[in-house]
Amino acid sequence: MKKRFYITTPIYYPSARLHIGHAYCTVLTDIFARYKRFRGFECYFLTGADEHGEKIQKNAEKAGVSPQEFVDEIVKGFHKLWDLLYISNNDFIRTTEERHWKTVQDIFTKLYNNGDIYLGKYKGWYCTPCESFWTDTQVGPDHLCPECGRPVQVAEEEAYFFKTSKYVDRLLKFYDDNPNFLTPESRKNEMINTFIKPGLDDLCVSRTSFSWGVPIKENPRHVVYVWLDALTNYITALGYNTENDELFQKFWQDEESETIHILGADITRFHAIYWPMFLMALGLRLPDREFIHGLLMMKDSKMSKSKGNVVDPYPMVERYGVDALRYYLAREVNFGNDGNFSPEQFVERINVDLANALGNLLNRTVSMVNKYYDGVIPAYTGRVNDVDGNLEDLTKITINNYEKLMDDLKITEAIAAVNELVNKSNKYIDETEPWNLAKDPNKKENLASVMLHLTNSLYVAGMLLKPILVTASDKLFEQIGISGDLLNYESIYNYGKTAGLKVEKKDQLFPRLDGAIEIEFIQAMMNGK
Ligand code: MSP
Repeated sequence: MKKRFYITTPIYYPSARLHIGHAYCTVLTDIFARYKRFRGFECYFLTGADEHGEKIQKNAEKAGVSPQEFVDEIVKGFHKLWDLLYISNNDFIRTTEERHWKTVQDIFTKLYNNGDIYLGKYKGWYCTPCESFWTDTQVGPDHLCPECGRPVQVAEEEAYFFKTSKYVDRLLKFYDDNPNFLTPESRKNEMINTFIKPGLDDLCVSRTSFSWGVPIKENPRHVVYVWLDALTNYITALGYNTENDELFQKFWQDEESETIHILGADITRFHAIYWPMFLMALGLRLPDREFIHGLLMMKDSKMSKSKGNVVDPYPMVERYGVDALRYYLAREVNFGNDGNFSPEQFVERINVDLANALGNLLNRTVSMVNKYYDGVIPAYTGRVNDVDGNLEDLTKITINNYEKLMDDLKITEAIAAVNELVNKSNKYIDETEPWNLAKDPNKKENLASVMLHLTNSLYVAGMLLKPILVTASDKLFEQIGISGDLLNYESIYNYGKTAGLKVEKKDQLFPRLDGAIEIEFIQAMMNGK
């Protein structure tokens, strides 16, 4: 087990406002970071903005502002969104910051001097009015510019290339030696069969057709082209190649640190093929793990403004709260698979799991402790009978499973394990019928044991869900009197710690949503109303 964790999201393009897909990746990464910290590990969590490139330069021109002004404004929105979603990142890197682009220049020089980068010619489809190069797929069979729709011509420009051939064999060996590097496993096969086996082209790492980028010191007509600029953010943010490289040594180079990149399936190729190659060329340690999550679709089609199906996270959080949105994102789609966002499933998920299962367990339990024990949770008396004993066993099994799953980034399954405990605890109320136990003077011990077990389930479920339900878990703890040392993760291993605590009934954790009204609200929001 490693001592430390370095965990990153992709750095997002500030070409437009972020949508729920970006929130998805960042929230899931945040859940993992919070979980690791909660377990006592040192965890450094990085996110940021990928601010260079032709598209941003053009968008800025259209908006009548400089590219820097343009990105500054959009990046303000990134910070606002991450605050709203309680994202606990330790740093936020912008590729326009000096700490980044200066190092990118040095990296370029180093690779050039080592013979990993050479000057060649880039050939592609060029649209003269738009001054843009496009790929075969982008221009389609009719060879039309995807931006203005006019015909494009084959053109060439001078460009620098990274020699991939030098590193292919080492990369394949690295995959073999590190079977956990790329998960889910299917992604590795996809990389090998789709990109590596058919023959990998050298990667173009500079452009002269636009200027919004990091100028190459050796030849300033060129700017560093996207991926060499973007991917290196993961090490420039830690101070690589500077006097102050403590974080870099501690979180990147040190074998005791586990480095994990979380990213969407759309950018796997760059992270799984070129990024390890760049690091090999620089003589640096490779990441331990890349976890590729699926893309969220809208009723099976990609989110896009023109289709009117983009979900904006802001109104969702404003209306349903940060916990509901975080929970939905983490629980609905198995982390690693593609999935759909649907207003119907959102409402259902919140009602079933949070309002009914968790919320009801809390309400019923607090009411009963108030009614039968004047609000004070009775003492723990060990295994009174099998029904109680089974719940106690299940609690221990749940903790164990949850930890294994979370450690392996199986976040959705880990939450499902907690749900199971919550559901079984609700069922336990129906089975033990505390209202009948209360009528029988010979069953006092049983009734006390039921209250203790229920509060213990709530305590454990609240702790295990804390990385996800960043505000509701604390509200749950207030109602069952959890404070002080009991808020340390390790305390959940000792059964019966809720004995003697004072419960207090407060507002419902998650009010039940009215399906018809809320589905209409979300749909209207997606259509931009
Ligand atoms: N700037 C590059 C990444 C450079 S990383 C060194 C980029 N930016 S992006 O803004 O397009 O963000 C891509 C990432 O956003 C995806 O990899 C994914 O994590 C997330 N998502 C964007 N749309 C998404 C969905 N519809 N669903 C899930 N995640 C999505 O690519």
